[in-house]
Amino acid sequence: MNTKTKYNTLILTRGRDMTPDSTELALAFEATNRNHKVSFQKPENFYVKDGKLFGITHRPNAESIDSYEAFGHYVENESFMKQENIPLEDFDIIFSRVAYRNPDEKREFENMCIYLSSLQSLNPRVTMVNSPLGMVMAGAKIYETLNLKTYMPETHITKDSKRLEKLMKDAALEKQGIIGKPIDGMGGSGVIEIPPSGYRGLRTLAEVLVEPLESTSSIPAIIQSKLEGVDRRILIMGEEILGAYKRVPVEEEIRANIHLGGTVQPYELQDIDREIVSNVAETIKRDGLYFCGLDIMGPEENGTIENTRMLELNVRCPGSIKSLESLAESYHEKAEIRNAAANKIVRYAEDLHEDKLSSLDQE
Ligand SMILES: Nc1ncnc2c1ncn2[C@@H]1O[C@H](COP(=O)(O)OP(=O)(O)OP(=O)(O)O)[C@@H](O)[C@H]1O
Ligand SMILES: [Mg+2]
Repeated sequence: MNTKTKYNTLILTRGRDMTPDSTELALAFEATNRNHKVSFQKPENFYVKDGKLFGITHRPNAESIDSYEAFGHYVENESFMKQENIPLEDFDIIFSRVAYRNPDEKREFENMCIYLSSLQSLNPRVTMVNSPLGMVMAGAKIYETLNLKTYMPETHITKDSKRLEKLMKDAALEKQGIIGKPIDGMGGSGVIEIPPSGYRGLRTLAEVLVEPLESTSSIPAIIQSKLEGVDRRILIMGEEILGAYKRVPVEEEIRANIHLGGTVQPYELQDIDREIVSNVAETIKRDGLYFCGLDIMGPEENGTIENTRMLELNVRCPGSIKSLESLAESYHEKAEIRNAAANKIVRYAEDLHEDKLSSLDQE
């Protein structure tokens, strides 16, 4: 390993996500091999001192680590990691890989985004993948509905249960399949297929959508045309496709989310997927969104712009290289998939950083 540091790189991630098969580890190993000095930080470990933003960071306590496995071994054992307190403006590239599963984690994520966007406006030389503001905007489905409407199914967002009920009735009369879901649902929670004409519980459904059990005030809900076909996740970095897989729901389930039993299966990309990716990437790059999981649904073959739509954009901790790897059989093949994806991501981030430096220097 060459020892000359080219970039100081930070990976923000929750401790629980730092598993030996994680995307975080793949990125860290690849970046280290490309002469980045890589540190990790948990989202709760920001602090401000003398008007400066710091992070409590960790990195492997070793001059060089030769194998991916050995690297994983270091990262898994806190005693092999060196703790440092670093001003975050010292980093060139910050990868953020922080998801949330409950309201407390959501608050922590939002605070992290506030720290990072403040840093970004004070120190525009720091390159962030993804941009904190972009991640806040595109976290729910509002951003997609407004900014990527050409590729989305017909989608309505409202807090008004009477309007929801009317949309459901109209769709039932037209025999059009529709889906209802809460705006901030996670992992498929609250996604329901609205029953056809004649069902007498539409009003209750509309009320439940905007007033879910755990909420104390009403929340917006989504009513969307139902898509048919195959639900696939396409992992992208900018306009580059890192890989794709389809998610097949268990029988009697419309939701293909993996933690609801959906399985990852191989998927052959179609021209329509490439067309959607290239157009979507163009738009979302403007908001600093690069490493994303694009969920698209439509026929598995001969997809067209009429029958294929995107469902959502995952920007906080998109899919994983692990799912791509799981499609390969041999150890060797898995390593190849992992390395190729991590290489594209890290290279792209380096290019972003260089472009940013040269445009700032010209100002
Ligand atoms: N309009 C739709 N037509 C057909 N199936 C849908 C539709 N909306 C959602 N689904 C199914 O339900 C699953 C979950 O929906 P969606 O991705 O919108 O919410 P979520 O997974 O809860 O959100 P997040 O990915 O942000 O956690 C989708 O992956 C898809 O299988
Ligand atoms: Mg989803």
